Amino acid sequence: MNETGGRIRIAGGKPLSGEVVISGAKNAALPALAATLLTANEVSLLNLPRVADVTTMLELISHLGAEIKEEKGVKIRAEKIESHQAPYELVKRMRASVLVLGPLLARTGRAIVAMPGGCAIGARPIDLHLTGLSRLGAEITVRHGYVEARAKRLRGAEYYFNTVTVTGTEHIMMAATLAKGKTILQNCAQEPEVVDLAHLLTKMGAKIEGAGTPTIIIEGVEELDGASHSIIPDRIEAGTYLIASAITGGGVKLKKVAPKHLTSLLDKLIEAGASLKIKGTEVELTGLEELKPVDVRTAPYPGFPTDMQAQWTSLMTQAEGTSIITETIFENRFMHISELMRMGANIRIEGRSAIVTGKTPLSGALVTATDLRASASLVIAGLVAEGETIVENIYHLERGYEDLVGKLRQLGAEIEKIG
Ligand code: EPZ
Repeated sequence: MNETGGRIRIAGGKPLSGEVVISGAKNAALPALAATLLTANEVSLLNLPRVADVTTMLELISHLGAEIKEEKGVKIRAEKIESHQAPYELVKRMRASVLVLGPLLARTGRAIVAMPGGCAIGARPIDLHLTGLSRLGAEITVRHGYVEARAKRLRGAEYYFNTVTVTGTEHIMMAATLAKGKTILQNCAQEPEVVDLAHLLTKMGAKIEGAGTPTIIIEGVEELDGASHSIIPDRIEAGTYLIASAITGGGVKLKKVAPKHLTSLLDKLIEAGASLKIKGTEVELTGLEELKPVDVRTAPYPGFPTDMQAQWTSLMTQAEGTSIITETIFENRFMHISELMRMGANIRIEGRSAIVTGKTPLSGALVTATDLRASASLVIAGLVAEGETIVENIYHLERGYEDLVGKLRQLGAEIEKIG
């Protein structure tokens, strides 16, 4: 699939029902794969989602020298580092590739990684990643579009993240595991994916406290061992299916989820009129009277996830009344709105807020995906739109959703890939 190819066709109007199994979290899998570079021993990862971004990261770590065996999950052994360079064509495809910089540097003393460009949702600089590594003693130079980092041995330090950054926190936490001495990181991201990475690193022998709180303390060790770890469920995939179920007035049961990672979304769905049943690793949306308008404001975890903002916007087009959706994390994450308006949504953008006035009937149209979660919001709108919706550029979807078309068909949606 090239980066702009692929289309799906949706015939709207079918309420979703039935059960769907949620896959492992893409945003936990990517740092976990980068962490395998920190040791010469074998790391076995279970529940990796089959999505394009994971394939790209596997390609990258094997380019760097890791041996990869696909059996009962994925077994990875980066015994010999054969290259210290993450090439631009891989980093361009997926900005999380930058996460290999710290582990490579901590393990071998040098690393070269192409600077990730911006993307549809914003400039997405990595300045905090680089200042964090230099605080640990790395010598960083940026030239010809590449970051080069060198350090005989990283040494523990104190570092305060100016902005809460998920992969920034993950990046410096990984590098600090092999630094000499203690590192204290403040104003850290508290996402479940950060905690999951800390669990993996601890299994590998790292000494980490405080993951999931704003302050993480890492006591460096000489080397790390192998480990076996199962990736946590994808809370954004889960939320996407709950919203798809709600917008179609259906009832869907999600299996293999971690309900405690979904609290902010579940609260908002209840406020919007949904009734939910939560039992162990299952969440069921059992029914929805009339959808009520509910404001959301994205925030770092445990706040409402920015990765659910576009999907929530689609849902609110079907609520009776006005809702205000404010995006505080990224500066340009409203790309889905013009496409939703082409389907009949009534939305006005004011600064960082989208003001949605519903309920407006949506009509199927040819729409273009711009980024992963915007694509999901267009599919969600297509599920309830009258007539046929064609979503173009579904490469974006395949980066982060395992078998979205198959799972939605299983829930009764009339959806198919057509190109
Ligand atoms: C992670 O991206 C996720 N990706 C994103 O998910 C998610 O939207 C984002 O966190 C926020 O939750 C992965 O985990 C692979 P940030 P990340 O650094 O780490 C600014 C998806 O759809 N910033 O937390 O890149 C940045 O510009 C993707 O799955 C700096 O200024 O996001 C943004 O405004 C999209 N300097 C804010 O921090 C830096 O050095 C939060 O970004 C780093 C970040």
